[in-house]
Amino acid sequence: MPRLRLAAILLCVCTCLAGRDPGWWRQAVFYELCPRSFQDSDGDGVGDLPGLIRRLEYLRDLGVDALWLTPCYPSGQVDFGYDVTDYRAIDPALGTLADFDRLVAEGRRRGIRIVLDLVLNHTSDQHPWFREARSSRASPRRDWYLWRDGREPGQPPCNWQSLFGGPAWTWDPATGQYYYHYFYAQQPDLNWRNPAVLKEMLEVTRWWYRRGAAGFRLDAVDNLLEDPRLADNPLRPGRNPYGDPNMVNLNNFRLPEEHRLLRELRRAADPFGAVLIGETYTASTAELKAYYGAGDELQLPTGHMLASLPELDAPAFRRRIAEVEATGCWPVWVMGNHDLPRAASRYGAGRAPDAVAKLLGALVLTLRGTPILYYGEELGMVGHEPRRPEEVRDPMARRGWPLAVRRDGARTPMQWESGPGAGFTRGTPWLTIPATATTHNVACERGDPGSVLSFYRQLLALRRSHPALRDGDRQPLAPDDPQVLAFLRRAGDRRLLVALNLSPRASPLNPVPPAEAARAKVLLASGVAVPVAGLPAELGPYGVLIAEL
Ligand code: NOJ
Repeated sequence: MPRLRLAAILLCVCTCLAGRDPGWWRQAVFYELCPRSFQDSDGDGVGDLPGLIRRLEYLRDLGVDALWLTPCYPSGQVDFGYDVTDYRAIDPALGTLADFDRLVAEGRRRGIRIVLDLVLNHTSDQHPWFREARSSRASPRRDWYLWRDGREPGQPPCNWQSLFGGPAWTWDPATGQYYYHYFYAQQPDLNWRNPAVLKEMLEVTRWWYRRGAAGFRLDAVDNLLEDPRLADNPLRPGRNPYGDPNMVNLNNFRLPEEHRLLRELRRAADPFGAVLIGETYTASTAELKAYYGAGDELQLPTGHMLASLPELDAPAFRRRIAEVEATGCWPVWVMGNHDLPRAASRYGAGRAPDAVAKLLGALVLTLRGTPILYYGEELGMVGHEPRRPEEVRDPMARRGWPLAVRRDGARTPMQWESGPGAGFTRGTPWLTIPATATTHNVACERGDPGSVLSFYRQLLALRRSHPALRDGDRQPLAPDDPQVLAFLRRAGDRRLLVALNLSPRASPLNPVPPAEAARAKVLLASGVAVPVAGLPAELGPYGVLIAEL
């Protein structure tokens, strides 16, 4: 039997044995959450896995299929889990491995898969590998990291800067060399040109797959490799919020060889039917397309093709969606995450944030592709930025206060009910809960048919019950409409019309011929007076309409 065929059969057998449909991630709705901020079970003000397990019922009722958890491994907690000290354990503040196993099992009972966040580019400086590496130049782990002599005494090897401010090289007096870190000095970069690093990380992924993880979100994949010549990066005019000169990260970001590593990670994932989501910020479709490889790299590169648009603007969104679809790759739609200001605030500040929250949910859940929601979007949670430096928990913002990007505002605790701890904790929450939690919480919104939560639940139920929304094709309508984004989703003889008003002004609605509009049945609407029969003639500000034709 030819070797390729044998490999294909083996892969299929492994996948079936694991009881997994290899394409499950195309149909799934993903939900990103920060375990620290979701549900505290022991009153220490920090969310944990036992708390999350208690809330699985809520997530099942909401209708999501997979959770992406920001890092849960033991960590120095300089970057809230993105500085790992042990890749095969759970941080004691969040629980134990037994809690993780229970989470997988309880999730499985409810049809919810668990996806972990894998921090590949760097470890914590407290990780035993780094401690060993920095113990001596002769350490067998030395080459797991990037150590170099200075260009000249007191001068780092090259001009690269840390994303979190200052030089990307830190002097280690004990061994008399610099080590490289794209992020904080407490997050030394691993040397991915060392095959032992790749081998170990592949083993880490298999270890979690065997334990029941359904995949990984791969952190910072564009940072994995550096130009070995350490050539200086070109400078641009001006300075960034940390006071460093602006630069183009030509020699330490998105190097073409990273695709070989992505293929290796994918090869390890496939036998388990696992998904790889990529942290791949890009605003260009050529770059986006590259992450899919020949279907042998990432299944879900997040891209941020929509989230990078600065404001709601129907023509701009229409163009972006068309560009993504023109790549021929399976789209991923994301409006917010733990690094971005909350989407309802970004696009809805001062202008009907609830209506905007519903509109954004309707957008990502009706486009063709895989949506990734961020916890609290379904409640219309808005950003809650610290006002004083002493309130800041994210060191990135503290260091560059007040100009640097602030991430705490999008990481505040999930809002379960009114009251001091918002049902999140009986202790003092690790981040302040905003006053809006008294109106925007699960308990209040659950019973209110007009709430953002009720709208999301209906949207998710609609997506589940209509194959046209999950797998159907998408046909754009009204290509020149300045306010309304309208399209059809079609599967077999079922046709669903989606119309989204991306503007704060009402807009006439006539995407289909009048005879067809008269026969249409409205399935879900917001910001629209729904007539007894047929389609409404107008869509209100940020209005949404989904109808069967
Ligand atoms: C990207 C993560 O999303 C972010 O939160 C983190 O600070 C950096 N990578 C470093 O791991």
